[in-house]
Amino acid sequence: MKTRELKITFTSYANIDALPQAEKELLLSAIDATAGSYSPYSGFSVGAAVRMANGEIISAANQENAAYPSGMCAERSALFYAHSKYPSVPVTALAVVARHNGEITPQLTYPCGACRQVLSETQSRSGKPVKIIVGSANEILLLDSVESLLPFAFDNYPKEQ
Ligand code: THU
Repeated sequence: MKTRELKITFTSYANIDALPQAEKELLLSAIDATAGSYSPYSGFSVGAAVRMANGEIISAANQENAAYPSGMCAERSALFYAHSKYPSVPVTALAVVARHNGEITPQLTYPCGACRQVLSETQSRSGKPVKIIVGSANEILLLDSVESLLPFAFDNYPKEQ
């Protein structure tokens, strides 16, 4: 028997201006993307922005539906569109943030479990780390790869294809 420990390192920033320029730009895109949220049921407008290795930023917002499970999170909307548009270009970073009643939430908006799973495969597919920027009004977190959000991921992505 052996007890092992898992260490997760991340960086916390007090506000958006303290972020490095590229991360700041991505978070600003995610904030802008909240304008496209369709969230009459939760009142929670989430924006996500994905940076591609070709320099392009693709952003999206959550889209809800009266049949609740038919909606989609901001992160997966952005990731699925990014891959649809540029199937062979790696994703290098994703930023996510939410507004409630028009204001950026005081709590951090972490990607949900399903979005973490999709992020995990996005990263495995390219073999390059995807940085995650988690926004709020009070603090911003920067994680260096998806493993920090989803350790022990189910990952059967076929490496030889
Ligand atoms: N939501 C996201 O878009 N991303 C997340 O990471 C968490 C939740 C959306 C789904 C739903 O439209 C609303 O936020 C409330 O759960």
